[in-house]
Amino acid sequence: MRRLTATMTALALVGTATAGQAEDVEVLHWWTAGGEAAALNVLKDDLGGQGIGWQDMPVAGGGGTQAMTVLRARVTSGNAPTAVQMLGFDIQDWAAEDALADLNPIAEAAGWNQVIPAAIQRFATHDGQWVAAPVNVHSTNWVWANAGILAELDLEPPQDWDGFVAALEAAQEAGYVALAHGGQPWQDATVFDAVAMATGGPEFYQEAFIDLDEDTLASDTMRQVFDRMATLRGYVDDNFSGRDWNLATAMVINDEAAFQMMGDWAKGEFLNAGETPGEDFLCFRFPGTQDQVIFNSDQFAMFDQSGAVSDEQAALAQAILSPEFQIAFNKVKGSVPARTDLEVDALDACGQQGYAQFKAAAESGNLMGSFAHGHANPAAVKNAMYDVVTAHFNGEYDSEVAVEELVTAVQINR
Ligand code: BGC
Repeated sequence: MRRLTATMTALALVGTATAGQAEDVEVLHWWTAGGEAAALNVLKDDLGGQGIGWQDMPVAGGGGTQAMTVLRARVTSGNAPTAVQMLGFDIQDWAAEDALADLNPIAEAAGWNQVIPAAIQRFATHDGQWVAAPVNVHSTNWVWANAGILAELDLEPPQDWDGFVAALEAAQEAGYVALAHGGQPWQDATVFDAVAMATGGPEFYQEAFIDLDEDTLASDTMRQVFDRMATLRGYVDDNFSGRDWNLATAMVINDEAAFQMMGDWAKGEFLNAGETPGEDFLCFRFPGTQDQVIFNSDQFAMFDQSGAVSDEQAALAQAILSPEFQIAFNKVKGSVPARTDLEVDALDACGQQGYAQFKAAAESGNLMGSFAHGHANPAAVKNAMYDVVTAHFNGEYDSEVAVEELVTAVQINR
């Protein structure tokens, strides 16, 4: 009944079509790992219940770099998908090109303004117009640990950098891969997000990645961030190059590796493998970032196809922000709801911690957009920074050269 009411409301919002005329939605996304696909099914089922079919357009590749390339090609050939998973500055770029449908009627009817915090609205709206529906809020500064290995080695979740290095050392000495990692630029950058925050603190993070302040980018603190990245490189196994992030998570799940530094989509993989937080795996904030939330929010932008938002796009946008969907989806995905007015008893302990921290940070204005996941600076700058971080992680640059290259990358691409 609730679904029926939701459908009727969505249709009433946008005009004359009836459920019988509903068309498919074609959705471009990069949710191809097991936990991600399970979460996506929650959305597919929700729409299916409203009589709306789903055409899947998956483009593998965490962080969405490949998906954004495919999107550009589709739009250029005049064939934009109905809805597209997008992050931060990419949404703003497409909105500035006038490519996105106006979601204001749906947002106003459902009161999005009142329940979605400003830091998320900053990316979901453009010139006062809603252009994307936020599905969730992820956070990148998490560590995932194999509970059994930590117990065997008598290790507690470390509280600071030295403690983390000591724990990595102990795991390596015991014959485990200390740090499960996949050498892909966006994964290197995800680690870098957390290391930078831990090393320099929130002001440093803000000035370097969001304000792109040259002195901060060129600072000794930045050199120290790179030094720490080199230290972490020493705890990664030899086969890390090119490995997908979910295969790195599988190494922790399969008792091969002790830790992974990754956003909380990794939790979706643990859950999908039947593991329980606190028992089989542990979640904790990267040491030194206990009070920080580096965030990225997956949002669905609707491509303007006929001058007005279509019935199916309206139904999709509305379903995404419904309280029931926000809980059901994020429980599986590993993220937390994008709206701050929900009871989250249904989330596990990591999710409840994440939601409380997200709400507190949103309230205090201390939510920091993830550089690695497109919420700190535009794609051109982000990609140029990726290149530097990855070249350094692979030993091509020492820390001093990396700092110089980072400054140059920003100068050229900002
Ligand atoms: C997205 C997540 C996704 C992850 C790995 C991130 O950029 O926000 O939803 O699970 O990439 O694919």
